[in-house]
Amino acid sequence: MSQANATTSIIIFGASGDLARRKLIPALFSLYCRGRLPENLQIVGVSRSAYSHEEYRDRLRDGVQEHATQNFDANKWAAFRELIWYQQGDSKVPEDYQKLETFLQERENGPANRLYYLSVAPFLYEPTVEHLGAHGMAREENGWRRIVVEKPFGTDLPSAQQLNDALHTVFEEQQIYRIDHYLGKETAQNILFFRFANTIFEPVWNRNYVDHVQITVTEQVDVGHRAEFYDSAGVLRDMFQNHLLQLLSLIAMEPPASFNADALRNEKVKLLSSIRHIALEDTVRAQYDGYCEADGVAEDSQTPTYAALKLLIDNWRWQGVPFYLRSGKALARKVSEVIVQFKCPPHMMFGAGMEDDCFTPNSLSLCIQPDEGIHLQFEAKVPGSYQDTRSVEMEFHYRSSFGDDALPEAYERLLLDALNGDASLFTRSDEIEMAWRLIDPIIQGWEKTGQPALASYRPGSGGPAEADEFLARDGRMWEYGCEHGE
Ligand code: BG6
Repeated sequence: MSQANATTSIIIFGASGDLARRKLIPALFSLYCRGRLPENLQIVGVSRSAYSHEEYRDRLRDGVQEHATQNFDANKWAAFRELIWYQQGDSKVPEDYQKLETFLQERENGPANRLYYLSVAPFLYEPTVEHLGAHGMAREENGWRRIVVEKPFGTDLPSAQQLNDALHTVFEEQQIYRIDHYLGKETAQNILFFRFANTIFEPVWNRNYVDHVQITVTEQVDVGHRAEFYDSAGVLRDMFQNHLLQLLSLIAMEPPASFNADALRNEKVKLLSSIRHIALEDTVRAQYDGYCEADGVAEDSQTPTYAALKLLIDNWRWQGVPFYLRSGKALARKVSEVIVQFKCPPHMMFGAGMEDDCFTPNSLSLCIQPDEGIHLQFEAKVPGSYQDTRSVEMEFHYRSSFGDDALPEAYERLLLDALNGDASLFTRSDEIEMAWRLIDPIIQGWEKTGQPALASYRPGSGGPAEADEFLARDGRMWEYGCEHGE
């Protein structure tokens, strides 16, 4: 068999878990329906449970029906399910890797490419990688070998470094794909296109025109069935170290010379390394009422489910421009958005007595979800008035411009990129470590000093009053910029 016709195997460790059922298999099914998967593909699920191939395929059907972005078509499913196989195996048992290797070789029948997907509990990452190495399963003599690593990537800087070391013992950096699903969201990627495929925004994208930036990722869900994991993580590890810092990088980085993985990631690392050490007084932490009653949460848990931070970037472009980040669970809305708030005009000639106050400064909202789009807010003269103004909006919505099915699920894009060997939307080892360098001192500072005190908030509310006071100290307010809709 020639290399061109080689089989591609996707091997999912943790195949009976939630991620495989809700995200990975539905994303692969959607890619299959769109004709985007390589020819000669097979998907091999590995987990400890005993299933026959047929039983495993049957288990996946509901998840695909419920979560795939492509409408469920029974004929397509019937063809797709034939690509799926199951191999029982325990990530900690060496002999099971030998069995897996034998099974794969039999099915591949010649040169083959392999994408290993770690969808197991994080404590199994290192043993799995080690065993893959010990069984020669990372060697690229007969086709490429890549590994996808899910978050959380470590719980702090030392553990992330240890995991990077373990990976690098077996795989080269270019074989490693660390997932941050926010980078797979079309709207997050569009931040780069918006900035660098247009001429009109970039000239004002700096400290001369921007007053401040707000990054908001709020959720309505509480910790639910993940309480035990969450209680040891908290919002900074769960959301800031990865998703919020990734959004910040995309918003604030310098333009790379080309759109390739290393050029892009070099700029992101440069940006992260320009962020000033975050002082504890520039942080807010809070927990929603009732959190400690959830199963799996310590009675006296101090784990924050909400945080807000102020960040300053010490570089030429952003000197003196605050970036405010907030994220939390059990809040009133599910929103992910970035607001770039511009400065007031230098002189106001409208409105006697306004002196140098402006009405409402211009703002640009990049709406990541749920109503994906971009809103530009500016002032317009109120018709019939002498010199009154009112804020109005220009809006772009993905769905009206590109159609209802235009937005693939993040995992579709990321799986496809990993299959195609494009690591641009995956996090490099130095990027992960840089992010931990920013987050670790905050978590340690909170634990050591108890400052600022853990605030509380009502589930379903807008968050703790302390977060509003925090911005009010700087003469600013949290905003939602994406709520007008069509
Ligand atoms: C995950 C976090 O990475 O992102 C979850 O672990 C969170 O706690 C989720 O709910 C949010 O993702 P999204 O795509 O729904 O905004």
